[in-house]
Amino acid sequence: MSFIELARNRFSCRSFSEQEVEPEKLLQILEAGRIAPTAVNGQPVIIKVLQSPEALKKIRGITRMAYNAPVVLMVCYDENKVYSPTTYMDDFKSGIMDSSIVATSMMMQATELGLGTLWARGFSAAHIEHEFGFPENIKLACLLDIGYADPVNGVPSPRHDLRKPLNEFAEKL
Ligand SMILES: Cc1cc2nc3c(=O)[nH]c(=O)nc-3n(C[C@H](O)[C@H](O)[C@H](O)COP(=O)(O)O)c2cc1C
Repeated sequence: MSFIELARNRFSCRSFSEQEVEPEKLLQILEAGRIAPTAVNGQPVIIKVLQSPEALKKIRGITRMAYNAPVVLMVCYDENKVYSPTTYMDDFKSGIMDSSIVATSMMMQATELGLGTLWARGFSAAHIEHEFGFPENIKLACLLDIGYADPVNGVPSPRHDLRKPLNEFAEKL
């Protein structure tokens, strides 16, 4: 499958089957994230893998955005390690961008492996950080829910197809 086909095939999955994610697939997904670029190769991103019944119960008890995914990746970054130039730029901090490209790489790798994914940020990150006892410098950027799509309900939402046309998306200056 070409990359553009892969990108077209991906959709937000909000209902997962009970099939487990194979360990080798999870490793490959994490590897895709590990080798993603980050600002000045600072690598401030840390993935917390929620897969045990206890961890999944805990996250599902805090936010419904974990849905029934058998694997939930917490995409986090260490605020002390983000690129944050002060001398020649504005107030740019790379944490969310670094986390986003890592999450995107993992999301697309999971898609290529036949898995469904959901990028989720509809929760209080501070609340989750507190409940999981994160140190002050570790910030949660997003959750990435992963699993096999439920054959009946794991389908694209109506919003999935609402993309603006290319001439509104990109413009020549
Ligand atoms: C930054 C970001 C945050 C999102 N947060 C949530 C969320 O909390 N819950 C949810 O169900 N979907 C969430 N989504 C998924 C989007 O709603 C979805 O990508 C969008 O509607 C397009 O649909 P598609 O992914 O099926 O193409 C999020 C996506 C992004 C990129």
